[in-house]
Amino acid sequence: MPHYDVVILGAGAAGMMASIEAGRRGRSVLLVDHAKYAGEKIRISGGGRCNFTNVNATVDKGRDRFLSQNPRFALSALSRYTPEMFIAMVRDHGITFHEKTLGQLFCDGPATQINTMLLGEMRKAGVTMVLETEIESVSKDDTGFALRLSTSSVTCESLIVATGGKSIPKMGATGLGYQLAAQFGLRLTDTRPALVPLTFETGALDKLKELSGIAADAIVSHGKTKFEEALLFTHRGLSGPSILQISSYWREGDAIEVDLLPHQDAGEVLRAARQATPRLQVQTVIGSVLPQKLARLLGDELDMTGMVGDFSDKKLAQVEQKLKAWSLKPVGSEGYRTAEVTLGGVDTRDLDAKTLGARDVPGLYFVGEVVDVTGWLGGYNFQWAWASGWAAGQAA
Ligand code: FDA
Repeated sequence: MPHYDVVILGAGAAGMMASIEAGRRGRSVLLVDHAKYAGEKIRISGGGRCNFTNVNATVDKGRDRFLSQNPRFALSALSRYTPEMFIAMVRDHGITFHEKTLGQLFCDGPATQINTMLLGEMRKAGVTMVLETEIESVSKDDTGFALRLSTSSVTCESLIVATGGKSIPKMGATGLGYQLAAQFGLRLTDTRPALVPLTFETGALDKLKELSGIAADAIVSHGKTKFEEALLFTHRGLSGPSILQISSYWREGDAIEVDLLPHQDAGEVLRAARQATPRLQVQTVIGSVLPQKLARLLGDELDMTGMVGDFSDKKLAQVEQKLKAWSLKPVGSEGYRTAEVTLGGVDTRDLDAKTLGARDVPGLYFVGEVVDVTGWLGGYNFQWAWASGWAAGQAA
């Protein structure tokens, strides 16, 4: 039976990075995946341009940008494998990139360049990869692990689980990582789709549907958490970066609040219109600062029609409130079908933050999305995949 020092399950971002690092240390490494190609999510990420890291995914700035039952857990790996280190590899491979916004780095060309780079580094590190291979069983004895694969059986000293979360099952996501964690006695935290569009009950949705395709810059908040980024109305509900971000914090039954005029004093706009153009319909006034259709919907919702000149201070304050703090109650999300990531996973209490090794199972490691560490939108999740994969690759 072939024996490897390290077997890694899952050839996504975290698994490929772990394989490179373990291979560089001279370990014999086998990387196994059931998909036809490695790094499928990298290929489709960032709208095909791969937002491969965020310059702010550092220990000081990234402190509150990773969600977990223990948000400090991610900091050890993030401090040792920094965005600069990944950027250096990208530069070495001649891949050009740009900062789009908020520290988000995207390839200038196709995302597949990142896959080509990782596959090249894997080759240099002597990694063996087998694709289209099912993992049928995993067992452990005193000397290490034994795996039955659909193509062969192998043994290894260290096993790194990098099978990702549940998002986008169509792309090969399975619950294998969670099953293995449970099999070896590690605890799991509740999982839920995150970075996902939010949906609405039929009545509200019918109104929102009319706005499908409209985008607005907005501040979307849930309690004290706020994101200022684009908001997009779709025929299923709300999407766009600000909504994806808040979806990681939102829970069933909660409302979200939308400030549709982040950098304007809505009260000032309304009072100035009442003074200068009192005969204008209030919806027309709102339509001067927001898309017409959206202005109409807001006016209808408030049941406020008529000339702005007839609006009392109290009524204008109600309009202002709607523009600055529009309260919406989603009923759910689009779920794992479209979620970019899975919130929750392998409980960090059972992992060593430095190595990502299971505290009570020597030689077993969990990296990437399968762990209860979820980043903000904007390159944070890949940085976690690189950093955690690197950390386990150093130790396994
Ligand atoms: P990942 O899911 O990448 O890899 C897991 C691997 O395990 C897969 O290759 C899968 O086939 C394999 N596997 C699963 N079950 C298996 C089984 N039973 N047997 C064998 N193999 C199995 N993040 C970011 O930072 N910037 C971005 O631009 C984007 N963009 C983006 C777009 C879209 C559409 C999605 C869905 C997600 C993103 N993300 C992102 C998130 C990012 O893709 C994600 O955080 C990482 O891919 C997680 O890396 P992992 O290696 O942990 O899992």
